[in-house]
Amino acid sequence: MTPTITYPTDKKELYHLLEGQVAAMAEGTPHLMSNFANISAVLGSALTDINWVGFYLIPKHFPNYFDLEKIAEKKDLLIVGPFQGLPACVEIKIGKGVCGTAVAEDAVMLVPNVHEFPGHIACDCASNSEIVLPLHNKNGDVVGVLDIDSPSLSRFDEADKEGLLKVANAIEKML
Ligand code: SME
Repeated sequence: MTPTITYPTDKKELYHLLEGQVAAMAEGTPHLMSNFANISAVLGSALTDINWVGFYLIPKHFPNYFDLEKIAEKKDLLIVGPFQGLPACVEIKIGKGVCGTAVAEDAVMLVPNVHEFPGHIACDCASNSEIVLPLHNKNGDVVGVLDIDSPSLSRFDEADKEGLLKVANAIEKML
């Protein structure tokens, strides 16, 4: 995605800035999905060498946004939320793919080569590496994930993981 403003190249500085931007959004507006949309847009313009960034959400934790009666049998799946990138698969079962595994294990998934990840779900065949961070509500439940894909192998390292965990913490303040 094409950056429209210049972001720091140093990862520590970059993620510190992004953490602040997300925190400002959390304080600025109570509209959760609008914030998720803008967070996707900010990350999409700030992070280089990525082709997809966005949210997968577990409906039962977002009763104001999903019609839980209508989708009763799907309320425990991951459903795609706001994102930037090519159209993505709408539903992912917990435990399936990188996103579903991040939820099942409640762990950050740093995947240097998605083609070597058993059960990886290929939404955009350009994706080669990926990082997925679980998002928790105030009770500590995993309510969804932040998923970022790159066309490069090994795009994400420990510095990205550390920085994105801070961004995820700022997102969790809204949940
Ligand atoms: N790669 C993900 C699927 C979602 S797309 O990348 C947008 C996975 O295996 O969970």
